[in-house]
Amino acid sequence: MKILKILFGLLVSLVVLLIVALIAVYVISDRHLSRKYDVEVPQVTTSSDSITLARGAHVADIRGCTQCHGSNLAGRVVIDAMPMLGRIQSANLTSGRNGVAPRYASDEDWVRAIRDGVRPDGTPLVFMPSYEYRTIGPEDLGALISYLKAAPPVDSPPRDETIGPLARALYLFGRFPLIPAEMINHSDRSFSQPPEGETVAYGRYLAGPCAGCHGERFAGGKVPGTPPDWPLATNLTPDTVTGLGSWTEGQFMSFFNDGRTPDGREVDPKVMPWPVVRSMTDSERRALWIFLRSLPPLPKGGE
Ligand code: HEC
Ligand code: HEC
Repeated sequence: MKILKILFGLLVSLVVLLIVALIAVYVISDRHLSRKYDVEVPQVTTSSDSITLARGAHVADIRGCTQCHGSNLAGRVVIDAMPMLGRIQSANLTSGRNGVAPRYASDEDWVRAIRDGVRPDGTPLVFMPSYEYRTIGPEDLGALISYLKAAPPVDSPPRDETIGPLARALYLFGRFPLIPAEMINHSDRSFSQPPEGETVAYGRYLAGPCAGCHGERFAGGKVPGTPPDWPLATNLTPDTVTGLGSWTEGQFMSFFNDGRTPDGREVDPKVMPWPVVRSMTDSERRALWIFLRSLPPLPKGGE
């Protein structure tokens, strides 16, 4: 009997402890979510001429905005894993019903949301990967914002979002990018882009988003924040053992059409977003290739 009593006592304390931990996770994460950011943003030039709008649509495709916000920009559910992770939705970026455009009074408001992950009211956006958009240059960002402002209105249902306990706990342990505004150095003033062309410099610019997974030195390895069984990112340097050393330019160009490697393996688009890169023009793909070929060959992971 005594042992049962002790076990029961232990169980009760464990449940109490769990509840206290859960409350703490909610209180702390809510405090982070309601923090206000006061960020100064650089100026961009917007316009409604057709060349700028077409460029903006292209930037939205090659930077993956349409992947999460939909090709009509009306938003969609991007994580649907109730109750643990929760349900996280992207936003309707148009001026239709429940769209955010009417709340965006100036171009600076758009810049702040896209580059800094901060809403016009100063609160941080949830799970919107602004840390990846710091590398969008002034001309491209101006064109992108021009395109967003010109988007035809689309109505959407009211937002129905829940941030689950697991998403909050993982976030507090630095394992889930719940609040991208906290991952960004908002005072970093670098903001430029090289002239368009089939050059190393332009290829390096286009490769900005690849570095998030393939590494700053493009030598591949573990993709930060992915589960242990996730495939390692490929070494993109010209190393002949693990890198793209034996690839031809033609093989690289066509990889982005169908996600097939030269040995016929199809790469999972959830792991390597080749459908996003598919919208790159031949000239952009060639610039990427020229840049990757200019890198020193490194072993996988770069050690
Ligand atoms: C991984 C998915 C994902 C991608 C890719 C993405 N977004 Fe978002 N975006 C989100 C989510 C989720 C939100 C909602 C954040 C919130 O309301 O807290 C959001 C919100 C926004 C908002 C703010 C809306 C508001 O409530 O004020 C803007 C503006 C925006 N995104 C623009 C873009 C642009 C431009 C791109 C491409 C450069 C882009 N997004 C790419 C997921 C994404
Ligand atoms: C979200 C993470 C992510 C991003 C962003 C990303 N990649 Fe990848 N990429 C991967 C992973 C992971 C693999 C390995 C897939 C596999 O082995 O199944 C891969 C594979 C590849 C391969 C395939 C080669 C092979 O033989 O396995 C090429 C080429 C490639 N990436 C180029 C790029 C380029 C260029 C960019 C930027 C325009 C880019 N990737 C952006 C994650 C990413």
